[in-house]
Amino acid sequence: MTTSAPAHAPLGSIPPDLRCAADYELLAPRFMALPSHEYVAGGCGRDVTVAANLAAFAQWTVYPRLLRDVSAGHTRLSIAGVPFDHPVLLAPVAFQKLAHPHGEIETARAANAMQACMVGSTLSSCTLEQVAAAAGPQRWFQLYFQPRREDTRALLERAAAAGYQAIVVTLDAAIQTAGARALKAGFRMPPDCAPVNLLGQQGPAAIELDPEDSRIFQGAMRNAPTWADLSWLMAQTALPVWVKGVLHPDDAVALRDAGVAGIVVSNHGGRSLDGAPASLDALPAIRAALGAGYPVLFDSGIRSGTDIFKALALGADAVMIGRLQIYALAVAGALGVAHMIRLLREELEVCMALAGCATLDQIGPENLMRRPC
Ligand code: FNR
Repeated sequence: MTTSAPAHAPLGSIPPDLRCAADYELLAPRFMALPSHEYVAGGCGRDVTVAANLAAFAQWTVYPRLLRDVSAGHTRLSIAGVPFDHPVLLAPVAFQKLAHPHGEIETARAANAMQACMVGSTLSSCTLEQVAAAAGPQRWFQLYFQPRREDTRALLERAAAAGYQAIVVTLDAAIQTAGARALKAGFRMPPDCAPVNLLGQQGPAAIELDPEDSRIFQGAMRNAPTWADLSWLMAQTALPVWVKGVLHPDDAVALRDAGVAGIVVSNHGGRSLDGAPASLDALPAIRAALGAGYPVLFDSGIRSGTDIFKALALGADAVMIGRLQIYALAVAGALGVAHMIRLLREELEVCMALAGCATLDQIGPENLMRRPC
């Protein structure tokens, strides 16, 4: 068995004991090889930020409201002028063949069936063209800057040719250190799980370090993007460019002023800077700095429709789902991912209905109460 082989083949049906979206997280270990599961579930370092993401949601409760007529309720919205049926997007998650032999193609089919926007990763284990062929009309491409500009430009051109509607450039992961859980489980990327979008690239030019040089500053960070690279990027494509990985209000404002179409408030699900704030804790100050109207997506730590409600109440327009998508993929392939999206939608609708909110724009901070210490 390779590290990518699931412990059990994905089911062609939904397990009968699966009652809520979060149950996919509980069931996934039965369907994934242990090292792959630990790689997905863990974060970086000691998982301080992974834990903070989950704890942040638990600090908020939702006020039930009485006697309000929500019988005309719905979850429709528009994001940057584009209509969506619901506020649930699939976050870019690399190497999905770790969870299912067909990888991202299954996820894309589910997104298509559920009218969900899928954000395909640069590091997908199926090509961006294969993902595009299976995904619905709302598909976005997540970009990692490549060391050579011609390689970054080639990815942008391929994404546009394949019909992606937006570019989401991830800027919070210039360095990613290994996570304790993945290391402990002996995770190694299996050979059948390659970043196929990058095949044929020359790779970065070799960096010669002097003895006094830092492996980080003069090494890993030498090719990391800067503000100048972001300006260059936006001049290379006619597609709207979003930035993922924003946690500081000053960065959010500077990105908006630089002409970025929208931002994703995210700490990469705790996989980048261990010790970064929970994304949910960072969200209100970012929304306050940007004011109403500027598109803000959110991810990191969402496990239920009530979590989605809380993120919307604290300033997000819509959310992206990371790990739950992979767990559902491992358990039941495309059917599982579609079912997970449906469960999240229904959980959100239940929360909205009981909180007296008929539409997403009625959800606000006044619907929440901070749990007393
Ligand atoms: C990610 N994430 C990620 N983000 C990104 O911009 N490009 C990528 O290729 C990946 N790959 C990736 C792999 C795995 C295994 C995980 C778990 C996550 C981060 C992802 O988009 C998202 O920010 C987080 O997963 C959100 O947190 P939750 O929902 O997993 O708690």
